[in-house]
Amino acid sequence: MRFYYRAYVACIAIYLAGSSLLLCAQPAPDYVWYRNAVVYALDVDTFKDSNADGIGDFQGLIQQLDYLHGLGITVLWLSPFQPTPDRDDGYDITDYYGVDPRLGTPGDFAEFMFQARQRGMRVIMDLVINHTSDEHPWFRSARQGKHSPYRQWYVWRDNRPADAGKGMVFPGVQKETWTFDSVSTTYYFHRFYDFQPDLNYSNPQVEAESKRIIGYWLNQGFSGFRLDAVPFIIEEDGKNVDRPEHRFDQLVAIRRHIQLHGQEAILLGEANVAPEESNDYFGKDGVGMQMMFNFFVNQHFFYTLATGELQPLVRALEQTRDIPEGAQWANFLRNHDEIDLGRLTTRQREKIYAAMGPDKNMQLYDRGIRRRLAPMLGNNPQRLAMAYSLLFALPGTPVLRYGDEIGMGDDLRLKERLSVRTPMQWTDAPYAGFSTTAPFRPVIDAGEYDYRKINVASQRTDPASLLTLTTKLIRLRKEHPAIGLGKWIISDHKAGDLLITQFTDERETILTVHNFAPNRASAELACPGQVLTDLFSGEDIPVKNGKVQLTVKEYGYHWFQVR
Ligand code: GLC
Ligand code: CA
Repeated sequence: MRFYYRAYVACIAIYLAGSSLLLCAQPAPDYVWYRNAVVYALDVDTFKDSNADGIGDFQGLIQQLDYLHGLGITVLWLSPFQPTPDRDDGYDITDYYGVDPRLGTPGDFAEFMFQARQRGMRVIMDLVINHTSDEHPWFRSARQGKHSPYRQWYVWRDNRPADAGKGMVFPGVQKETWTFDSVSTTYYFHRFYDFQPDLNYSNPQVEAESKRIIGYWLNQGFSGFRLDAVPFIIEEDGKNVDRPEHRFDQLVAIRRHIQLHGQEAILLGEANVAPEESNDYFGKDGVGMQMMFNFFVNQHFFYTLATGELQPLVRALEQTRDIPEGAQWANFLRNHDEIDLGRLTTRQREKIYAAMGPDKNMQLYDRGIRRRLAPMLGNNPQRLAMAYSLLFALPGTPVLRYGDEIGMGDDLRLKERLSVRTPMQWTDAPYAGFSTTAPFRPVIDAGEYDYRKINVASQRTDPASLLTLTTKLIRLRKEHPAIGLGKWIISDHKAGDLLITQFTDERETILTVHNFAPNRASAELACPGQVLTDLFSGEDIPVKNGKVQLTVKEYGYHWFQVR
């Protein structure tokens, strides 16, 4: 009898233990590295100089890796670092297989890759293969005429095409897309500046070479590429420049090649295309690029920041919602170029100009603004904080631009887009701690954004600084991968100024609230669960009958976990 009783108790205990195990064992969400990455964009030459020549370099970058690691960055995106005459800040390459000697030796580069890997950080690089520099040996040879083995690597015409004055990427600065070459006395095609001749991708040799470049750098340890100027790589060069045909099979080929060389490597595409075109670039069955910058949302984000009108941003998010399984948007506020507002209406663009870049000198290429984020937002700390919070709470992967984490300014005396590419401001020491010599490009040393006021050293010890906030946001974003992986809805409430987004995955539901108005805003919102926990303050707000009453301060923001 006793034996039976014991066996009975043991059975119940095993049964209970088993079922509680079952209850605890929640399915782990499919964690995909690039969908939950925090990407940091930097240019080696403006980040940190280690050898007192005024130019940032790989050794300097190595010195600052712990800063980036501490900030929580998981992926570094390096601007072009290959040998270059530097007429387009490195986007004009003369040797695809080299390291610009100004930035260090190949050994310094390899050491950097090693050091990044030691800290668990991935590195992606700009892949600029739409064009070369006109000083590239291939182009020098091609100019010699029809007998050059490289002649067909570029796009030539004997006579000036009638549409030579069309299709410029840099209108206002660039005069034409076909330029006369005095050596071969023919015309060559260039979508960008005249010193950036387009490579001819209908030549299989060019395609083969681009694969070699990709394979080469993947073997050096890169986790992928920011593919520069994607639509222009895959267009039929020089034909129908206003509405060219695109060869998406070329993207498929590149993707296949990348997967062959680096299992986990990705393509992050620069393709500022209309929402309905994006899926051609992502590729239907996961065969195109894994990621693309969401330029469409970016422009509408700024429109909403400038005007407070929410609907355009909400619509942009909805219009870019449906992307293939495994694909991901990369979201950003500002990047290294002008902010391109070309997909907005003229009226919308005018409103942003008026609010954020009223002087002609702040505008560029008839479509954008060449300022940094902080000046565009009037250096209002609360507004900057709200914009940053939303960047981390958009469906997609956040991409930060170096210096924006401390609210750096711009230098409008520098030409075109160089205004937003000044040296990183580390300390209040001379030359901002970037170098001990006068840098090749001046540091910002006057006004509101003077390095003595805006620098990493002073912000890292200030609990109220933008840097401290950015660090917190990165931590939160990483702790809640539902934002990068989960399903999302935007609350359809009638609360004017508040953007309310709900993210759900297998583990949790997160609700974020952003107030775009310079005044307090309230809303009653429908909400699942019983309690909302504010992830910044830890405060609990009870949900009553499926509803919550919220009041958010001017430019305020909240991240709630629904419990
Ligand atoms: C991309 C880059 C830009 C560069 C251009 C030409 O648009 O973002 O900086 O000038 O390509 O390579
Ligand atoms: Ca240096």
